[in-house]
Amino acid sequence: MSNDYFKHKAGSYEEINHRVENVENIANSILATTQLEKTMNIMDFGSGTGLLLERVAPYVGKITAVDISTAMNEQLDKKRADLNCDLEILEMDLSKSFLDRKFDGIISSMTLHHVDDIRSMFSRFYAMLRDGGILALADLDLEDGSFHTEDTGVFHFGFDRELLLDIAKEAGFKSAEITSASTVCKPQGDYSVFLLTGHR
Ligand SMILES: C[S@@+](CC[C@H](N)C(=O)[O-])C[C@H]1O[C@@H](n2cnc3c(N)ncnc32)[C@H](O)[C@@H]1O
Repeated sequence: MSNDYFKHKAGSYEEINHRVENVENIANSILATTQLEKTMNIMDFGSGTGLLLERVAPYVGKITAVDISTAMNEQLDKKRADLNCDLEILEMDLSKSFLDRKFDGIISSMTLHHVDDIRSMFSRFYAMLRDGGILALADLDLEDGSFHTEDTGVFHFGFDRELLLDIAKEAGFKSAEITSASTVCKPQGDYSVFLLTGHR
């Protein structure tokens, strides 16, 4: 990619305790609220270094990791041998390129706020799921813009839960609901994180 916002962060990405703890909480929420099976091929949108997918890997057959960042994908690739499922890494901007595939589920952690057109993204998620396929996305609740201290390509200072639920339903998702998944405690403040679930 021409502008890899995570180029200089990828190598040390997992050294931040609150970041790892947050994704642990998100993974636990996903595992508690979704029915995953070893026959499933799920996609992790904005998979980064694999913090989320490595926790979900024991419960599915294959994970397709989609990330725009070469540097993050390189870090993830180093984990391949230790994962308890098959791993496919696709380097692409999923907000711009169309992926003509059907997955049993789409999971995502802390990536949605990097996407400009959320409505279009939810329609793409819907198109990439088989009937009955699961959606489980975690991201920040509305915040004042202080969460990020450097530019990593942020389009949204978190999300309004009701607005996001409406967008998910408009895209066609059934049983869409939002629960609290985690809180990130940083020196400048505490930031709550939601989990949106639903299915096609
Ligand atoms: C904040 S990181 C989260 C990484 C990981 N999910 C986690 O929770 O540790 C956001 C990731 O989304 C990726 N990303 C952002 N926009 C993307 C897009 N349009 N298509 C694919 N990946 C994207 C970034 O490269 C980055 O690796």
